[in-house]
Amino acid sequence: MLPCFLLPEEGILFMHHEPVMLNEVLALMENHSHSKILDGTLGLGGYSEGILKRFQSSQVLGIDRDSEAVKFSCQRLSEYSQRFTALLKNFGAVSELDDVASYDVFVFDLGVSNMQITIPERGFSFNIDGPLDMRMNPDDDSCPSAADVLRDSDAETLTEIFRNYGEERYAKQIASAIKRSPVPITTTYGLVELIRKALPQPVQRKMGTHPARRIFQALRIYVNNEAGELESLLKSLPEVNRTALVIFVSYHSLEDRMVKHSFRQWQNEGFGKIITRHPITPSEDEISRNYKARSAKLRAFSLSMN
Ligand SMILES: C[S@@+](CC[C@H](N)C(=O)[O-])C[C@H]1O[C@@H](n2cnc3c(N)ncnc32)[C@H](O)[C@@H]1O
Repeated sequence: MLPCFLLPEEGILFMHHEPVMLNEVLALMENHSHSKILDGTLGLGGYSEGILKRFQSSQVLGIDRDSEAVKFSCQRLSEYSQRFTALLKNFGAVSELDDVASYDVFVFDLGVSNMQITIPERGFSFNIDGPLDMRMNPDDDSCPSAADVLRDSDAETLTEIFRNYGEERYAKQIASAIKRSPVPITTTYGLVELIRKALPQPVQRKMGTHPARRIFQALRIYVNNEAGELESLLKSLPEVNRTALVIFVSYHSLEDRMVKHSFRQWQNEGFGKIITRHPITPSEDEISRNYKARSAKLRAFSLSMN
């Protein structure tokens, strides 16, 4: 664990950030014991900060697989260092924590952070030019970047990735265009340009969204093994903690389906009960303030095994 005060001073940047459905998350926690809370997707520390402010005797552990997020949030929340700790870790390995059984609440706000999406060098955004990286932990050299994936995968594999993780109708056309490209695709704008050239104008107009959105989502999920991480978490959590409140906020149907099915399974197996029969979604007001919130779905489960 990295005590906040040991972290370096560099890398502080100001970033506007409104955590999605924070009030709804806090309201659920309010009705449950909340002495020890694990924020499994620390990001910019928006949830952790909200929790530390609202529940003044709670201890919070924030984990993230992104070393920059851990450093940033640790510095941002340094005034809470008595009650807040940050740790570089994948949530798929949360069961490895010695004290995992003692948390009252686990909260996971899936997907990418504003920091990852807005820093050009991270290569997550189709709206900003940068290297086609997309690794959630930029220090992990063993993880191939999105550019590596495009270079090293054949057209069939790319088609599968774009279909499975992006639900992209034109997966095959885009994958073949990538493989036919005379130059390697190494930048975000390079990929956007290729997608625009591969899809006829009328198709692009009918898409109703940025033509590269689904491909970028698919690559990001694949590069970071997001589905595998979520699967490990959903498999292990009820085995290692029998009394916690578990909250997920997800942003696309693949993640939401995985959470929904696991919660049903947990309930059927007697691990506790689903609290949100239907997912909670953000208010119109929140969506108008924060565009990112538009696709969010919140689901909660109360683990209560004797
Ligand atoms: C939507 S952001 C969280 C934002 C945060 N709730 C806030 O208010 O600042 C998601 C974060 O989860 C992290 N993340 C994604 N998958 C992860 C995993 N498997 N393990 C740990 N962190 C992960 C990302 O690196 C990112 O920082």
